[in-house]
Amino acid sequence: MSSTVKVALLGCGALAEILVKRVYPRVQDRLEVVAAVDISLDRANAIAEQLGARAFATLDDAAEAVELEAVDVRLPHHLHLVGAQLAAAHDLPFLIEKPMASTLGEAREIAALAVRVRGVCGVSENYGYLEPVRAARYLLQDGAIGELLVAQSARVFELGPEWQRDGWRVSQSGPQGVLIDQGPHVARLVRTVLGEIHEVCAYAGAHRERFSSTDSVVVAARLRSGHLVSQLLTWACPSPAAPDDTPELVLYGSGGSISVYISYDRAGGGALLQRPGAPDEWHGGGTHYYDSLAGVLDDWAASLRGGGEPSCSISQGIADMEVVEAIGRSSATGAPVSITGHASQR
Ligand SMILES: NC(=O)c1ccc[n+]([C@@H]2O[C@H](COP(=O)([O-])OP(=O)(O)OC[C@H]3O[C@@H](n4cnc5c(N)ncnc54)[C@H](O)[C@@H]3O)[C@@H](O)[C@H]2O)c1
Repeated sequence: MSSTVKVALLGCGALAEILVKRVYPRVQDRLEVVAAVDISLDRANAIAEQLGARAFATLDDAAEAVELEAVDVRLPHHLHLVGAQLAAAHDLPFLIEKPMASTLGEAREIAALAVRVRGVCGVSENYGYLEPVRAARYLLQDGAIGELLVAQSARVFELGPEWQRDGWRVSQSGPQGVLIDQGPHVARLVRTVLGEIHEVCAYAGAHRERFSSTDSVVVAARLRSGHLVSQLLTWACPSPAAPDDTPELVLYGSGGSISVYISYDRAGGGALLQRPGAPDEWHGGGTHYYDSLAGVLDDWAASLRGGGEPSCSISQGIADMEVVEAIGRSSATGAPVSITGHASQR
């Protein structure tokens, strides 16, 4: 068995185009894409050409023609369960892109399939792999801002044309708009830095035409630790032009604050530590958002070869989905919803 895992890339759309240019080349000593699969053979061909892989219209065709060891599923949200089923039918372990599925029920079906296949499966939620996020967690744990008081997260941007290209993200009958698309990121961000979420109270709205049934969500959350966190999500606002300018998480403590900036345009970002009477300090900077997706792949590949549960585990994906489902239920009923899951802490 070679040390490089032979992978089929299932779904050759907008994200795959980025993976090919700036993510897969960074993990080529661990993972080799040998098959690019898409119902659009043109897209599969374009991706295959760049990776030196072969192109197929179905995973069945790929499995028949080339030796596969794992499947990297980058399909639209509502097809993640289908992707897992296709991989499981060939007894192949899979990595499912975030959100793990359109609903918590489907995510649990995926988890059941993951137990059945030979090999380690995972969920490609990348926020726990972002260096500024990790830096904020370490600073907080080290007591850099004294006692934590309260926190706020914000994910404010305008969904770019490449993400609207195929229409499914923003269709009115589509998978719940910004909440299902961005909610897992925010859940993982908060869970990584601050710990598990105990209860949420949420409102969701849609105000901008052509931006799906839910373009904005506001959440008040209480952590198991008792701390309070506010969350603001919208994908319909063009300002600031670069989300890099808005901190995605701010932690307020008795001795200062930590602001987490993620860089999407260039190597940058970081966790900004500010304390009265002390110079500002940047930690965990100099990285690009998509570096974190290489971190996920690296982690999954190590588990595929060496065994053991990766940080990008199925159980962590389920824990994110429990938060998203609770936010959706709270916004639908107007009542707070507790999260009863027993996902492992951090
Ligand atoms: N982690 C991140 O930061 C991040 C960023 C972008 C997208 N994503 C995730 O990646 C996933 C894909 O998003 P996208 O924007 O690339 O979508 P997309 O619509 O651009 O691409 C999906 C591709 O899947 C193909 N497809 C559909 N059904 C298929 C089938 N049955 N078999 C084979 N191919 C099929 C489509 O033809 C399309 O090319 C989403 O779940 C999204 O949440 C994650």
